[in-house]
Amino acid sequence: MDSYFTSLEGRLEGKQTVAVVDNLWGDGGKGGWIDYLLSIGDYSNVIRFGGGNNAGHTIKVGDTEIISHLVPSVQFNPGAIGIIANGCVVDIEDLFGELDSLRKGGIDLTERIFLSGAAHITAEYHRVIDGTDTKIGTTGRGIGPTYSNKAARTGVRVNDLFDIERLKRDHKNFYDYFIGSGLVERLDEIHMMTADTQKMITAAIKDDRNILFEGAQGALLDIDHGTYPFLTSSNPTSGGIATGTGIPVDNIDLILGIVKAYATRVGEGSMVTEYHGEQADELREIANEYGATTGRPRRVGAFDAVAIKYASSLNSKDILITKLDCLDTFENVPICTAYTYNGTPTRYDGQWVSEGNQIDHFPREARILEHCSPVLEDMPGWNEPTTEVRSYGELPQNARNYVERIAELTDTQICGISIGPEREQKIVK
Ligand code: IMO
Ligand code: MG
Repeated sequence: MDSYFTSLEGRLEGKQTVAVVDNLWGDGGKGGWIDYLLSIGDYSNVIRFGGGNNAGHTIKVGDTEIISHLVPSVQFNPGAIGIIANGCVVDIEDLFGELDSLRKGGIDLTERIFLSGAAHITAEYHRVIDGTDTKIGTTGRGIGPTYSNKAARTGVRVNDLFDIERLKRDHKNFYDYFIGSGLVERLDEIHMMTADTQKMITAAIKDDRNILFEGAQGALLDIDHGTYPFLTSSNPTSGGIATGTGIPVDNIDLILGIVKAYATRVGEGSMVTEYHGEQADELREIANEYGATTGRPRRVGAFDAVAIKYASSLNSKDILITKLDCLDTFENVPICTAYTYNGTPTRYDGQWVSEGNQIDHFPREARILEHCSPVLEDMPGWNEPTTEVRSYGELPQNARNYVERIAELTDTQICGISIGPEREQKIVK
């Protein structure tokens, strides 16, 4: 039944603007697929449309591995420029840190990175406030406080830096930070990077240039559609592309949703399929599930078809399955097909639930999710290495059964599968 496996090339054909977003809680492997698409296609722009340096995107080419937080994944693709668009929040100190360390490693992105004048800036006091969080398990990068100021209309945007007297008058705290951090001495460099990115992107589309949108975080961390309040403060879902860059919604030609072959989550909030104890340690070690931004051990668990089906309905039904090889050694690979509710009777979304009820549609509400346990379907494992596999047909039958069952349960079609971090370890039709 390889009808669940569709041709990526076919899906990409005639598509000028392509987005890669994550269909769960982030960390699915967006960086690797962005880099792969850049290596096969002629993309002139890679655009981050939301989030900030809470992201941690890993790209590996040969022996070099790069983790980027704010810099769009263009490091290995000299033909592409990176844009940090208006929907992002930017810690400029951190951005300079990233660019400086890339430069030391021989990758000079001067004149290849552009920053929206309308992006909001994260200052030290945002990080300090975020550092007091004990509830959400944030990355501590000041993301929530920066977006709070944005929503409250008290934030500072990149363009505000260029009128220092006005900045001092209207944003004294920020002004003090800007002087104290020494950033003021790099004002010309900031100016060099700053652009009207909405105009740039619109012009690139008009000029028929190909564009990639690099998502950050994941659909279930979306402030509107995720597991509130255990999520981030932006819209990582595909809808965030339009507002986060300023292009019309119908200018997004193809959206690819990253789906990891099992579940992970960093920070607090329910994770219905979470493993504990040895079972968790085993998968975490095999798959090296430690945060690329904070180094925190990630929570790991079984594939959650309920969550992925919902996330795919938010983002895209064209999916890229990642890290399949991390399941190579398991006897059985369970898939969660539904939840069982085991709390007291209650209402949400205009319906009743009571103990013992089966829930098929992701409930989203923290107070419901807390009382859900997974209904698991055990799929037989394949028990052989897949990292050298180069075509779909070469995958062990049980591995194909597994991914096809995933596609069936989540109402998606598979456009690609990765079985390792290298460019060659991407299986496409
Ligand atoms: P990438 O782009 C995974 C999580 C944090 C926390 C919540 C809120 O690498 O997939 P924040 O600092 O954003 O206020 O934290 O969101 N989180 C991520 N989890 N991947 C990410 O980014 C994340 N960015 C934020 O762990 O639970
Ligand atoms: Mg990450």
